[in-house]
Amino acid sequence: MKKYTIALLPGDGIGPEIAAEAKKVIDVIQAQGNAQFECTEAAFGGNAYLQTGKAFPQETIEVCDAVDAIIKGPIGLSKEESDKIPVDEQPERGALLPMRRRYDTFANYRPVYLPKALAHFSPLKPEVVGEGIDLLMIRELVGGLYFGHKERGTDDSGQRFVRETLEYDEGQIARILHVAFGEAKKRKGILHNVHKSNVLLSSVLWNEVLEEVAADYPEIEVKHIIVDAAATALCLDPRQFDVMVMENMMGDILSDLGGGILGSLGLMPSACVGPEKAYYEPAHGSAPDIAGKGIANPYSMIGSVALMMETSFGMTEEARAIWAALEGVFAEGFATADLGRGEGAKLLDTASFGDKVVERLAG
Ligand code: IPM
Ligand code: MG
Repeated sequence: MKKYTIALLPGDGIGPEIAAEAKKVIDVIQAQGNAQFECTEAAFGGNAYLQTGKAFPQETIEVCDAVDAIIKGPIGLSKEESDKIPVDEQPERGALLPMRRRYDTFANYRPVYLPKALAHFSPLKPEVVGEGIDLLMIRELVGGLYFGHKERGTDDSGQRFVRETLEYDEGQIARILHVAFGEAKKRKGILHNVHKSNVLLSSVLWNEVLEEVAADYPEIEVKHIIVDAAATALCLDPRQFDVMVMENMMGDILSDLGGGILGSLGLMPSACVGPEKAYYEPAHGSAPDIAGKGIANPYSMIGSVALMMETSFGMTEEARAIWAALEGVFAEGFATADLGRGEGAKLLDTASFGDKVVERLAG
């Protein structure tokens, strides 16, 4: 039997609640007897800082270095709590970006997936949603403004200034484009390239490299769209898209728009894949305002388990079964209070929703 090691980082806010449901799903897959998973929990994020003085403590680094895959809950504290922590140790800068840098997780897969069973959560009109939405945003995750040189200072006239640089080299651009073309090839053969080459030189180079990479994929139809126009198009007619590729900051913003299309960021799992290691996480924050209330939907965390099963362990059947179980529970009319919309939703707490998913998987 195959054995895999997993680091489970529950994170902050609603993280521990939804991570517990992800663990149940991992356990039920193990019980089916095709693979064995050894999960090690470790502290990461704001809570880790409060316990150890480090948002990404050495002990957690060692656990993560050693495992086959990492699954992490959302991190982040309320603004008041965060403001008490030195800027460099605030969870996003002190834990998340270092994790991305350490494992070079350049390829961020963010599915914007709205099957029929979830269609009622979308704020878009039924005629826009049609039979459902199924698009994949691919975001470059370790370059651009988020990782460029940063500087603050005061100039000669006494004005405060800031300088942040957006840097990409052609290798960084080519590798994410290869991922995107590869996904387009597995899906419908259409790739939307999101850029801002009318203003940004970084997009001019991006598009040049795209022409070169595209030569390896003559069967793929490339469509170019400027990022601001893409935002409008996603609201008006999201079904025109299948695979979309973009640099880091554009992907950060448009993928949250993806959550808006679905009706909640709580419906956005993601995979962050590097050359040797991948980690999986909800694309949303830690929602400190609803933490501990048992009302957060575990979909994004359980969906991240599905992405891990498929991407890190090649367990495609199991991944498909997890998606089907999640959809099945929604199709029966169940929801949690954070998502609960419309008449007649049968509201469950986080753990009971997870139990329903597990029952379906086990059944
Ligand atoms: C995301 C998040 C992060 C990002 C934050 C928490 C640093 O918004 O994963 O989209 O900006 O990448
Ligand atoms: Mg974001």
